[in-house]
Amino acid sequence: MKVGAAELCILLFTTSCLLHFSSELQHSMPYDYSATTQCVTEPKRAQYGGGIIVNPGFDHNIKGWRVFGNGTIEERISNDENRFIVASNRRQTLDGFSQKVQLKKGMIYMFSAWFQLSEGSDIVSVVFKRNGSELVHGGHVIAKHGCWSLLKGGIVANFSSPAEILFESENPIVELWVHSVSLQPFTREQWRSHQDSSIERVRKSRVRFQVTHPNETVLEGATVVIKQTRANFPYGCAMNRHILTNSDYQKWFVSRFKYTTFTNEMKWYSTEKIQGHENYTIPDAMLKFAKENGISVRGHNILWDSERRQPEWDLSLSPDELREAAAKRMKSVVSRYKGQLIAWDVVNENVHFHFFEDNLGKNASAVYYSAAYHLDPTTNMFMNEYNTIEYSGDKDASPTNYIRKLKEIQQFPGNAGISLAIGLQCHFSSGVPNIAYMRSGLDLLAATGLPIWLTETSVDPQPNQAEYFEEILREGYSHPAVQGIVMFVGPAQAGFNSTLLADADFQNTPTGDVVDKLILEWGSGPHTAIANSRGIIDLSLHHGDYDVTVTHPLTNYSKTLNISVRKEFSLESIHVKMHA
Ligand SMILES: *[C@@H]1O[C@H](CO)[C@@H](O)[C@H](O)[C@H]1NC(C)=O
Ligand SMILES: *[C@@H]1O[C@H](CO)[C@@H](O)[C@H](O)[C@H]1NC(C)=O
Ligand SMILES: *[C@@H]1O[C@H](CO)[C@@H](O)[C@H](O)[C@H]1NC(C)=O
Ligand SMILES: *[C@@H]1O[C@H](CO)[C@@H](O)[C@H](O)[C@H]1NC(C)=O
Ligand SMILES: *[C@@H]1O[C@H](CO)[C@@H](O)[C@H](O)[C@H]1NC(C)=O
Ligand SMILES: *[C@@H]1O[C@H](CO)[C@@H](O)[C@H](O)[C@H]1NC(C)=O
Ligand SMILES: *[C@@H]1O[C@H](CO)[C@@H](O)[C@H](O)[C@H]1NC(C)=O
Ligand SMILES: *[C@@H]1O[C@H](CO)[C@@H](O)[C@H](O)[C@H]1NC(C)=O
Ligand SMILES: *[C@@H]1O[C@H](CO)[C@@H](O)[C@H](O)[C@H]1NC(C)=O
Repeated sequence: MKVGAAELCILLFTTSCLLHFSSELQHSMPYDYSATTQCVTEPKRAQYGGGIIVNPGFDHNIKGWRVFGNGTIEERISNDENRFIVASNRRQTLDGFSQKVQLKKGMIYMFSAWFQLSEGSDIVSVVFKRNGSELVHGGHVIAKHGCWSLLKGGIVANFSSPAEILFESENPIVELWVHSVSLQPFTREQWRSHQDSSIERVRKSRVRFQVTHPNETVLEGATVVIKQTRANFPYGCAMNRHILTNSDYQKWFVSRFKYTTFTNEMKWYSTEKIQGHENYTIPDAMLKFAKENGISVRGHNILWDSERRQPEWDLSLSPDELREAAAKRMKSVVSRYKGQLIAWDVVNENVHFHFFEDNLGKNASAVYYSAAYHLDPTTNMFMNEYNTIEYSGDKDASPTNYIRKLKEIQQFPGNAGISLAIGLQCHFSSGVPNIAYMRSGLDLLAATGLPIWLTETSVDPQPNQAEYFEEILREGYSHPAVQGIVMFVGPAQAGFNSTLLADADFQNTPTGDVVDKLILEWGSGPHTAIANSRGIIDLSLHHGDYDVTVTHPLTNYSKTLNISVRKEFSLESIHVKMHA
């Protein structure tokens, strides 16, 4: 059969990938789009019907619950028929009610419950007392009087043991009220399948090619080769000054990444080591390198709220001198790189630390976000914090405290229009990552509606480092609210000794293999597909730009076209005519 004397028509249309979950999967789907950070008068029923919790909604009085420590417990029913459990006469922080469950090694447990106090407000945590003694925190919320606050969290069981679920609140004088408790276990396979379905739904779209003769008859056997030229999802890697002098590092970096953060080179202590002597030689050169190679840069950071991370000289300044020096720093670095960066970490780690607040007043961070915005209004202004989703034991930086700081900045007069964004460092230390806490935290932070980036992803060295890193990266990529990931990792020659991707000879470490595998997977590698008897090729492609080549074995014609696969695609049709 000789086609081609005339033309070959290719129709291409795409439909956004609408997944219809089976009811079973929907029931167990743990991405919680309805998570809220609001304090509400009408809490929801227990998630997953309470999971393995006995009497989760207190429909059977307090059956299944017992007193922990000192105090008394009872059921109460509100005027609007809400049933909840109350712990009174507490003396110590963990006093209250508890329930025993059996944790199974390898299982991932999502926890949620609604809390209220009889007066005031306080941080309430869920604590798993494992194996009779070890206490593991699973999540935190600021509970108040007068309305219900949602605590979401979880635990990953690294060994099988009984566990008592306890609740901790610093102020034992007040009554602790709990509504709708849930603990739902998931296997690793279920978890992975949730991630995969979410990736299909939020990162990919279905694309249909239809190949026909010009006379509209379908053309079986046409070959479509599709190759991604640009990924939409920003998946990047930190870089440091060695990039300027080490050509192997340059090659290594440029062949993999289009997004970066400079580790230390743009920080105040690097650009103004001596007061009044600014030197931007290194970050200028790094930015030039990045631009020449099409790499987008996050600005890290303008100010750092930790006393230990100041330029040494600013510690001895008076408050007025500090205010002046910090204002000068702000103006200097932000005007220098204005419009050239994709983000600013404005006041780094201001949930854990408060150096500027201590010295200049409670409004210090809010004032700096405002100043940065006015100097560079089109760039996203990030908070950037560690432990918020990676370590459930760190109450100070919990999602609930992060959101409190965020609202303080957002609600400061004049700040409503600032494009604030959520930066989560994600430095995981050793041990099995608490992926349930990570997802719960992302769900809660997502409820703010602001963009979320994982900004400094890493995992401490340990035997399962590569496996754990993959879990964390997949969790980030699959979460609908995450809009970018930057890793704080690199090759040995650049001095990255914690999460090492390549050894001294630029041979991949196992962690490096994971990163390369994900770049390929999320970049949709090259696909080759053959049109079926209806002339159709269906593909599910990660959002991005592609070069497409269509050929037919019985002709020598081939046609290339470029397509952009976008999330917004609902239906698109492209008609390509091939000529002899
Ligand atoms: C359309 O064109 C092809 C190739 O020239 C031919 O084999 C086929 O019979 C045509 N179909 C119709 C309906 O004309
Ligand atoms: C009850 O409180 C007292 C005083 O704080 C303490 O000594 C005692 O150990 C507590 N009892 C229990 C069961 O925790
Ligand atoms: C649990 O506790 C028992 C007794 O204290 C101890 O022998 C055992 O090693 C503990 N198991 C784990 C996994 O910590
Ligand atoms: C600025 O920094 C560069 C790179 O470290 C250095 O070579 C140069 O001498 C510095 N300039 C001044 C004026 O100190
Ligand atoms: C911030 O707080 C300081 C000290 O409390 C005060 O002097 C200053 O006016 C406040 N700034 C703004 C912009 O509200
Ligand atoms: C389980 O994890 C905890 C917390 O990371 C750690 O302290 C403990 O040693 C681990 N236990 C086992 C048996 O791996
Ligand atoms: C890793 O690198 C950091 C910073 O370059 C250094 O302070 C630290 O000592 C190094 N750690 C090891 C184990 O070499
Ligand atoms: C395709 O090209 C090859 C080599 O250039 C040639 O031998 C062959 O005849 C061509 N086939 C058609 C169908 O034009
Ligand atoms: C497709 O994009 C590439 C750059 O990625 C460009 O070189 C090429 O000309 C484009 N092809 C078409 C058919 O637009």
